[in-house]
Amino acid sequence: MAQIFDTHAHYDDAAFEKDYTNIIESFPRYGIGRCTDVASTMESVDRVLFLAHTFPNVYAALGIHPSECRDLTEGYLLDMEKKCADPKVVAVGEIGLDYHFPEEDPAPEVQKKWFVRQLDLAAKLQLPVIIHSRDAAKDTMDILRDRNLSLAGGVIHCYSYSTEQAREYAAMGFFIGIGGVVTFKNAKKVRDVVKNIPLTSIVLETDCPYMAPVPHRGERNSSLFLPLVAQAVAELKGISPEEVVEVTEHNAERLYNL
Ligand code: NI
Repeated sequence: MAQIFDTHAHYDDAAFEKDYTNIIESFPRYGIGRCTDVASTMESVDRVLFLAHTFPNVYAALGIHPSECRDLTEGYLLDMEKKCADPKVVAVGEIGLDYHFPEEDPAPEVQKKWFVRQLDLAAKLQLPVIIHSRDAAKDTMDILRDRNLSLAGGVIHCYSYSTEQAREYAAMGFFIGIGGVVTFKNAKKVRDVVKNIPLTSIVLETDCPYMAPVPHRGERNSSLFLPLVAQAVAELKGISPEEVVEVTEHNAERLYNL
């Protein structure tokens, strides 16, 4: 039977320090199968690898988040490249651009530099990419359009842009990551995206501990809440939650080459 695949979780986060084992071991009781734990800081990379080696149903993605790239060095990327040879590493991420913070730290030019360097690393290793992009729609699209042919696909995680752009990303072969936001009744934009792009381009994700779905909004999120996201996607598409789970699980396998 199909099981939910959480394509983007952060069980390496301090919020799960005490009970990550309990949560991951209880996946089957909630209809959850596998997850990809995604690194974001330089400190998280080894923790993510540890989790992937501890649990057979957890995969690893290694990369440095745009907000965390100010201390990145070429030497560090070389070290990360070696770690990407680990068979449990299925993607490079999360990487991208985040212009949300008005103080713009790190500066856009710094973010772009390390985004491109990590895209090149993913292209060299032929690993898919997990893209974090906030308030940076144009720069992200320009850079990905430019490099798309050398990349091995990827996902635009926690998608927050227009339906038109989602269609373009889907046409470029990217998946669109949908999480708790789709359950917010005022999230018209992402709900329109879900209605208007094919289910074959959608993957489910939590971004836990963040982005818990209704009625848990504001609480610590985990993969155990993903049935609520599958339900919301099913309602928007007028299909059964079982079909959403089955198709998105298959999409996650295609995304991560499993
Ligand atoms: Ni994330």
